[in-house]
Amino acid sequence: MEVIIKDNYEEVSQLAAEYLINTVKSKNNAVLGLPTGSTPMGMYRIVIETYKDNNISFKDVTTFNLDEYVGLDKNHESSYSYYMDKNFFSHIDIKKENTYIPNGVAKDMEEECNLYENLIRERGPIDILFLGIGPNGHIGFNEPNDFFEPHTHLVKLTEDTILANSRFFDNMESVPKKAITMGMKSILSAKKIVMLATGEAKSDAILKSIKGKVTPQVPGSILQLHNNVTFILDKDAAKYL
Ligand code: GLP
Repeated sequence: MEVIIKDNYEEVSQLAAEYLINTVKSKNNAVLGLPTGSTPMGMYRIVIETYKDNNISFKDVTTFNLDEYVGLDKNHESSYSYYMDKNFFSHIDIKKENTYIPNGVAKDMEEECNLYENLIRERGPIDILFLGIGPNGHIGFNEPNDFFEPHTHLVKLTEDTILANSRFFDNMESVPKKAITMGMKSILSAKKIVMLATGEAKSDAILKSIKGKVTPQVPGSILQLHNNVTFILDKDAAKYL
């Protein structure tokens, strides 16, 4: 495991963007695993700027997002699908049909989870997967649990996560209570994993993920089992290391 500590959010975003760009430059049909949330916003912005200034193309790139809220369709402003279009996909030359995000309004959720899992298997392996982390250690939407869920699955969000994510909604009541997320096996099957974390609110989850025991109570701790993972942190997120 590699841990890189940067001075601030901008430097974390810059380095993360370099990982993404270098992956696409060295493999034009790369498969990317992508996160949402506030943390990767800077990375997407820098990748878009680099895309505009340089000769890189995403036209053969495939992407898999980690998760999506249940009950929000892709036009809902708080859906992760909407987020991805707004913050990344609409600014680059990626083909929409190569961008996969779980369908949060699928009629049959079990079927949707299986479909997504099969797609990752068929189109993968993911070359590089970027992750954020929740203050409670969740990755994707794999919440603290008694066991590690291997495959794409439906999850009931914890109160902590609903509260943490309520900033993206008008009020607590409108935050979905369920989500679809890639499971741990899907995450660990990526060839390379890059975890981004900034700010003090993530410092405890980061300490436990890097130095604690591997336990489903701290989902991020499973990354200790992967042989090619890089944590890119700012000083605040790294303060207990
Ligand atoms: C959400 C997402 C995660 C993300 C986490 C951290 O719950 N499902 O994939 O990593 O929040 O988000 P943020 O970067 O906004 O702190």
